Amino acid sequence: MKERETRLISIENRFSPITEQYRNIRTSIQFASSAGNPLKLVLVTSTEQEEGKTTLASNLAVVMAETNKKVLLIDGDLRRATAGKFFSLVSSQNKGLSTLLSNARSSPEEAIQSTQVKSLDFLPAGPIPPNPSELLNSSRLDEIFMQLEEQYDFIIVDSPPLLVVTDAQIFSSKVDGVILVVRENRTKRNNLMKCKTLLERSQARLIGFVYNGAKSMSAGNYKYYKY
Ligand SMILES: Nc1ncnc2c1ncn2[C@@H]1O[C@H](COP(=O)(O)OP(=O)(O)O)[C@@H](O)[C@H]1O
Ligand SMILES: [Mg+2]
Repeated sequence: MKERETRLISIENRFSPITEQYRNIRTSIQFASSAGNPLKLVLVTSTEQEEGKTTLASNLAVVMAETNKKVLLIDGDLRRATAGKFFSLVSSQNKGLSTLLSNARSSPEEAIQSTQVKSLDFLPAGPIPPNPSELLNSSRLDEIFMQLEEQYDFIIVDSPPLLVVTDAQIFSSKVDGVILVVRENRTKRNNLMKCKTLLERSQARLIGFVYNGAKSMSAGNYKYYKY
């Protein structure tokens, strides 16, 4: 892993135009949230690998935490856990979401780590389980989410791609809203349509698309589109 990849722009440079774009996305989410339809638990996903999900989820968590909200980032990619690298934490340490799911008597506090960002905590994915989808597709996940929602103001779940495994679809039915990352020159239109259908099937609330431009992220090219 190159050192460059482990740095997060919203931590490194709070005043860069890119960080400002993450704040715009934050504002859009806050506007989409209402008393009747609060957006407290939000899933970040996309059609395939390498479209920028983990990057967005992590930066969004950081700028959300700037508003003095208590924020939790969950690494929901139980197969390719990478979110922890940005917070100098190891995603596949002993405890994480997978161990909470497989042990009904465990409590989230056992696995949650604090980060270098004030008011941002991180729940790692935990060791890779043999059956991620089955583990997620359980009432135990609802229970964990309920406990976490009592402790945090805003929770972001990073996830695997929607079209590769069913994990993200399972998450989508349990969260308040879903953000789809679309990467320029990479995301295929028909795959995006497939995602829409999957999300409708799981009665998920698609709150918007985040367009991740082809130019390097340091050039800054994030846009938010309301669905
Ligand atoms: N717009 C972009 N320009 C250049 N590199 C990008 C861009 N978006 C993402 N990347 C890079 O692509 C790789 C995958 O990003 P990541 O956020 O881990 O995607 P995912 O979680 O969807 O697999 C990372 O190395 C990231 O730095
Ligand atoms: Mg990822």
